[in-house]
Amino acid sequence: MKFGYFDDRNREYVITQPDTPLPWINYLGCQAYFGIISNTAGGYSFYRDARLRRLTRYRYNNAPFDFGGRYVYLRDRESGQFWSPSWQPTRRELKDYSCRHGMGYTVIGSTANGIEAHTRYFVPLDENLEVWQLTVTNRRAAKAQISTFSSIEFCLWDAQDDATNFQRNFNTGQVEVEEGVIYHKTEYRERRDHFAYFACSEPLAGFDTQRDAFLGRYRGWDSPAAVEAGQLTNSIAHGWAPIGAHQVNLDLQPGETRQIVFLLGYHENPVDRKFDPPGSQTINKSLVKPTIAKYLDPLNADAAFERLRKYWDSLLGIFQVDTPDIHTNRMVNIWNAYQCMATFNMSRSASFYESGIGRGLGFRDSNQDLLGFVHMAPARARERILDLAATQLPTGGAYHQYQPLTKRGNNDIGSGFNDDPHWLIVGVSAYLKETGDWSILDEPVPYDNQPGSEQPLYEHLRRSFSYTLDRLGPHGLPLIGRADWNDCLNLNCFSDTPGQSFQTTTNKDGKVAESVFIAGLFVHAGRELAAIASRRGLGAEASHYIGETEKMLAVIREHGWDGEWFLRAYDDFGAKIGSKECEEGKIFIESNGFCVLAGIGLEDGTALKAMNATGEHLATKHGIVVQQPAYSRYYLNLGEISSYPPGYKENAGIFCHVNPWVMIAETRLGRGDRAHDYYSRINPSAREEIGELHRCEPYVYAQMIAGKDAPTFGEAKNSWLTGTAAWNYYAIAQWILGIRTTLDGLEIAPVIPRSWPGFTATRVFRGVTYKISIERHGEGNRIALTVDGNPIEGNIVAPPADGRKEVTIKGILS
Ligand code: GLC
Ligand code: GLC
Repeated sequence: MKFGYFDDRNREYVITQPDTPLPWINYLGCQAYFGIISNTAGGYSFYRDARLRRLTRYRYNNAPFDFGGRYVYLRDRESGQFWSPSWQPTRRELKDYSCRHGMGYTVIGSTANGIEAHTRYFVPLDENLEVWQLTVTNRRAAKAQISTFSSIEFCLWDAQDDATNFQRNFNTGQVEVEEGVIYHKTEYRERRDHFAYFACSEPLAGFDTQRDAFLGRYRGWDSPAAVEAGQLTNSIAHGWAPIGAHQVNLDLQPGETRQIVFLLGYHENPVDRKFDPPGSQTINKSLVKPTIAKYLDPLNADAAFERLRKYWDSLLGIFQVDTPDIHTNRMVNIWNAYQCMATFNMSRSASFYESGIGRGLGFRDSNQDLLGFVHMAPARARERILDLAATQLPTGGAYHQYQPLTKRGNNDIGSGFNDDPHWLIVGVSAYLKETGDWSILDEPVPYDNQPGSEQPLYEHLRRSFSYTLDRLGPHGLPLIGRADWNDCLNLNCFSDTPGQSFQTTTNKDGKVAESVFIAGLFVHAGRELAAIASRRGLGAEASHYIGETEKMLAVIREHGWDGEWFLRAYDDFGAKIGSKECEEGKIFIESNGFCVLAGIGLEDGTALKAMNATGEHLATKHGIVVQQPAYSRYYLNLGEISSYPPGYKENAGIFCHVNPWVMIAETRLGRGDRAHDYYSRINPSAREEIGELHRCEPYVYAQMIAGKDAPTFGEAKNSWLTGTAAWNYYAIAQWILGIRTTLDGLEIAPVIPRSWPGFTATRVFRGVTYKISIERHGEGNRIALTVDGNPIEGNIVAPPADGRKEVTIKGILS
């Protein structure tokens, strides 16, 4: 069953039923000011950091699931009936409900009682505010007297404190109301230089800023007393719960449409100009008023919206494809790229499953996210790389996470996840391949943000590599530390105390447990680093890296191979994990997928065996599970992985993040049918028809789909913020369609299904537009290329020497 449909031409997903199985959300904003918005207008907003600069309050784990947001109410002044055009929070019956989630905007609306109303929500580029454009049309034959009410609930900035520290927070709330603009200024009197504002374009019939006055005693957002009464009370919040609500009364002739603009924004004043008059306690509003005036004008709001649309047109225009598969097309051309932007901006901090107070930016996650994002905004990718590298420790190790506002490593989690450093090499390499901007390697970057410790970025990469060489275990494989990619494989943890963190508890000295996955990653990163070194003219150094990866390959062959597949790890007792000798957890996806992705075993047949075993033991109709058999009980020596009931999360769930490793591995074996089949199994668009089972949004990937051991096999969870976005994008774009960035140019190496007659693509790469068409003449993956009509040797198209800006590539597959 479907709950809406794709409108590919407008790059929108249109939800036609408000009670979707889970809230289906979208993101507003893509620079500094962000909002999350559900299909019923739920969600919240923040400036840069979802924990420390939360503008509006949101209660997670609520019932209903999604409650609290950017709610608008309409009230018929004659009948007294009131409702919300977004269905929530009143949940009255509506006609023609629709929610259009688009690129950086959402439009929600419906018709009820003969009144049509739609609100378009978006964040203008380069501004720290969100615009709500509410249009109300009288579809009745008679005149209508309608009151409209806006509403939001302010958060007292630090979302963690806001949700816990009530003895203090019930006393601190402060607002000002001037010329119809509601200013939220809690803590502005002391150390904050920022405030929020909520403005309305029309003359007000009333406002409220104290929640109790608006809602009334023992009432919720579904039936605010002031809305029911038809009159806001002009309340001023002193402590308790500051909110913002505006009332506008409209008299609408039959067929008449009116538009009201609301703005919710964030503003920072210079410290010495906080108050007006100076010395008073009144906010200096002179610096923000011009911005407010500008966007309250619907023409300016429309112009800002058009600019946002153009921005997305140009971002998505960098890579567009036309293949025989509609699900491939719409994910590559629209939604997967869009999701990559969200994961780049949010990392794993704020979604409906990441509460915005927990996880900052992950070192490994953010580096991997670059794979899906770097082509869309290389300058921001560059900045992110330098920020990440600045949290690296002098040992080459890395803080596992950092806070985006301070850009400092997060001490609560610390370091010791031994895969982390290598992802920096992977990220930088992706950046170099896309941009050819070698200057980044010479940027001075500190360690652990310590002034004076600056070294060129390139030196950071060296240390990333040597970090592993300094930490080899008894078999010569990399020590795993707290965890490798799999956060839940905690081999040094041995925790028997409820509530302890599996990631930070360490009861073993960590000198025994080893990871075959990190070994594969080391080989991959080592080869990337060698390629970079040799292009920097550091031949001897490049040979050193190659030499070390060769040694690691030999170790993998000797101690990392189980006969039919790659082992996963050795535990603290030196016992195998992911081996036929194990009772449970005999075979794992990560080591198999990544080793073959890295090209390990291609020449001796082990890669082929590993992928066949992965297909046989791990692949299901809903995707490839992490391991089999699932762990049926808790194993002290394995940690969190065995804490999950079978089929969920890392315990044999379908972790969509790692499925693309297998897709890429299959392309390395030349098996395009299998690669694209795996791609399709987890492609959300291809799962739209099974919406009742899948439950998450059909336009973005979820982190996980329940595995075959779970009673809810096929059910997705934790949508949006997952490495799945970048890896699937990278797998389809660069390996299956095979339009691949390299240090030397654009490589064309499709490994597509045999049944495809071909495909076309446009790729803007280093300022040149490549028009690519691939035709299949035989069943294989051999490619012959012509560039602007001239046959070339090999399959790497070097940037045109004569400054041409458009290049036509034709490829014949046989
Ligand atoms: C989550 C984490 C990621 C980790 C994965 C597997 O997605 O964000 O860092 O690799 O889980 O445990
Ligand atoms: C939990 C999650 C895992 C995540 C980790 C780090 O272990 O199950 O997916 O990566 O926390 O926050």
